[in-house]
Amino acid sequence: MLNAIEISPKVWWVGGIDWNERLFHGYTTERGITYNAYLIMDEKVTLIDCAKATFCDEFLQRIGQVIDPSKIDVVITNHVEMDHSGSLPKIHEIAPHAEFYASAPAGVAEIKAHYGFEVKGVKTGDTLNIGERTLTFVQTPMVHWPDNMVTYSDTDQILFSNDAFGQHYATTKRFDDENDLCETMKQAKKYYANIVQPYGPQACKALEVVKGLDLKLIAPSHGVIWRSHISDILDAYESWTTNQVVDKAVVVFDSMWHSTEKMAREITDAFIAEGISAQLIDLKATHISDIILYMMDAKYVAVGSPTLNSQMLPNVAAFLTYMRGLSPRNQHRIGLAFGSYGWAPLGPKQVYAELENAKFQLPEPVITQQWIPKEADLTALQAKVKTLIEFEEK
Ligand code: FEO
Repeated sequence: MLNAIEISPKVWWVGGIDWNERLFHGYTTERGITYNAYLIMDEKVTLIDCAKATFCDEFLQRIGQVIDPSKIDVVITNHVEMDHSGSLPKIHEIAPHAEFYASAPAGVAEIKAHYGFEVKGVKTGDTLNIGERTLTFVQTPMVHWPDNMVTYSDTDQILFSNDAFGQHYATTKRFDDENDLCETMKQAKKYYANIVQPYGPQACKALEVVKGLDLKLIAPSHGVIWRSHISDILDAYESWTTNQVVDKAVVVFDSMWHSTEKMAREITDAFIAEGISAQLIDLKATHISDIILYMMDAKYVAVGSPTLNSQMLPNVAAFLTYMRGLSPRNQHRIGLAFGSYGWAPLGPKQVYAELENAKFQLPEPVITQQWIPKEADLTALQAKVKTLIEFEEK
């Protein structure tokens, strides 16, 4: 039988560990995923969130280490996305007397739509006494679905935060101070960049509520539990939710015969020569979900594509589509479009249009290069980069 882990007196982690999942709707999860659920052994035995359907057996085994699952009295669904609710119908089947709660109206409607049964609705500020403990609900809509909420246990000073503060990181140990903090923070940032980023203003509001709580633990529904580094993750969210950027450049490109690549290398080197940290990213070598991580706090984003059949390269188009969906409108972010062509400079022009649509500041017109850049063409790119840097100093 798989074990439950007591994370606080009478509060148990009963989740699933998905060691080998490598893709979460288009986002690479190179360190796997956990689906955290929590069981509170109070007068009313309370379950907070469930696991993905394929981890239902593992989840029930862990609950079974603490109590017969049919004795669960209260089930709280902080978020209906199926990585957390997939096992909910099974719990509904084996504990039919339990009271089921979700946020109103969205969570209630989503559970009905997904699983066909009714649950009770709660709103921000509503409380539920389960014995020694009173649970308080705070709705966090669009962080990152309409139904999201968090649940706070006053006695334990635990915030069950669901997706917020989570990381896709499968580990042996459950707490932040038992794992590599650098990796945990990197995975938290990648999670934010790829899941929560479009909803920064909503996450910012939720963060204000969280900062007002007395917290011993933040227990998300993915990854490790925050215990010793609560202030680190709250500070990081403060920075991420307010779209703070640093003096760094990412230069993203794809190339066919190396002309656009030569331009990309020259642009990268020009940033470095100006004292700006820069990263050159070939779309053939790096997954778009990692690029989003690298560019999230970058002030400068340069994107290059040659022209293929009157279009930008499909790799570049896929990246820009993904980026446009995730990237917040950030008045501090500066873009640059560039690329090569043979007879019509359509690829780089499309890149420019996409950056414009994504609300980048674009101090330089699109840079196009017919056929192969000569040394003088490459040297001229240095001045363009300087213009970008001077533009931000205005
Ligand atoms: Fe972890 Fe939005 O689900």
